[in-house]
Amino acid sequence: MDSLLIKGGVPLEGEVHISGAKNAVLPLMAATLLTEEPCIIHHVPDLSDVRFMGQILTSLGADVRFDGGTVYIQAAKLKGMADYDLIRKMRASICILGPLLARLHQAKVSLPGGCIIGSRPVDLHLKGLAALGAKITVKAGYVHAKAPRLSGGEVFLGGRVGPTVLGTANVMMAATLADGVTVIESAACEPEVVDLANFLNAMGARITGAGSPTVQIAGVKALHGAEHEVIPDRIEAATFAIAAAATDGEITLVGARPDHLSAVLDKLRDANVKVQRNGRNLTVKRGGELRPVDITTLPYSGFPTDVQAQAMVLMTLTPGLSIITERVFESRFMHVSELARLGAEISIEGPSAIVKGGRPLSGAPIMASDLRASAALVIAGLAASGTTVVNRVYHIDRGYEKIDAKLKKLGARIERIKET
Ligand code: EPZ
Repeated sequence: MDSLLIKGGVPLEGEVHISGAKNAVLPLMAATLLTEEPCIIHHVPDLSDVRFMGQILTSLGADVRFDGGTVYIQAAKLKGMADYDLIRKMRASICILGPLLARLHQAKVSLPGGCIIGSRPVDLHLKGLAALGAKITVKAGYVHAKAPRLSGGEVFLGGRVGPTVLGTANVMMAATLADGVTVIESAACEPEVVDLANFLNAMGARITGAGSPTVQIAGVKALHGAEHEVIPDRIEAATFAIAAAATDGEITLVGARPDHLSAVLDKLRDANVKVQRNGRNLTVKRGGELRPVDITTLPYSGFPTDVQAQAMVLMTLTPGLSIITERVFESRFMHVSELARLGAEISIEGPSAIVKGGRPLSGAPIMASDLRASAALVIAGLAASGTTVVNRVYHIDRGYEKIDAKLKKLGARIERIKET
């Protein structure tokens, strides 16, 4: 497995182009299964998760061709079975279930299983599809879903911690081809859900209300091919913004969507980080000494759980006490013990991390545990004195396009050590 060797202490300066959003493109690719016509998606990031979704679609019978930042997909013929070896590698692959069911009237898809950030059940996905009339059984680790006809219904998709992003995507996709009108209450409001609804509407679906907690889908007989451009990755943008503040540098995020970043930018401003907006570009730098802030992660438009680890690194560099509370995933603090190896003082109290910041970080070998934790560890390495080696960076390659090259361009001393 590759690792990243970082010689820290260099302020990052310059411009970085924000890639297409991983969490938008994965459901968009799944949505192409809803039509036999060709679909074209642009601004597709070159990520292992995206290539992996391509493999899943290929295994189902679709033609998938990547060309630069564009993917061409045509699912003229399909089979409705996705096995464990494919699904277990990436939880997002569960969002093929809704489209397969809608198109083929039956599907057998492996349950994805848990992951390092929490148990990640799919009960709400199944509840939503059942509300459309699907017969769902779970046998030997597989979801078997059958529905000779899906019919519109009302479904409440709020779970124990709020709405579900991929659950909303799954039900929304299935409902596009159902008879009648579906109403999803407590739908996820994330920009990635809106992007998916826009793509589905371009394919001929009739969806209104995406981005609000109530989404209405009037079913249509068939969808057709469409061309679409993926929204910029708000989590990548937030990660680079935090890297600018953490290294006391100045980074301009080119092609970001500031309107998708409100909660993050608000906290950065509270922490005395200056954010200057110029159209779709944002320039980020410290306004002076950093100030501690308390952060609670929440579904959109709250502070994203996918930025919690990176924000924690910034707070370790900030004199004073900050409390970071994780409300979306129960065990998303795997980075804490690794940050401690760099000298951070963080204690966990239930869902909260109490950060005593201000002590300088110093480099050490550390281990990445999940995608966003890896990004946080890279930021910590960039801000620390001395040399940090982040091991198991395949996690970061799942969701950050060419992160080492982008950081290098900003002046970071970072090298990828290839596994031999
Ligand atoms: C999406 O995961 C993202 N993944 C995650 O990003 C992100 O952290 C998460 O949304 C929250 O914003 C993709 O879009 C590919 P959820 P998703 O269903 O949809 C519980 C990253 O690093 N829940 O909104 O799987 C669940 O356990 C990744 O890019 C149920 O209880 O997340 C969690 O506590 C990691 N039952 C909460 O809801 C269900 O059926 C939110 O999960 C589904 C979810």
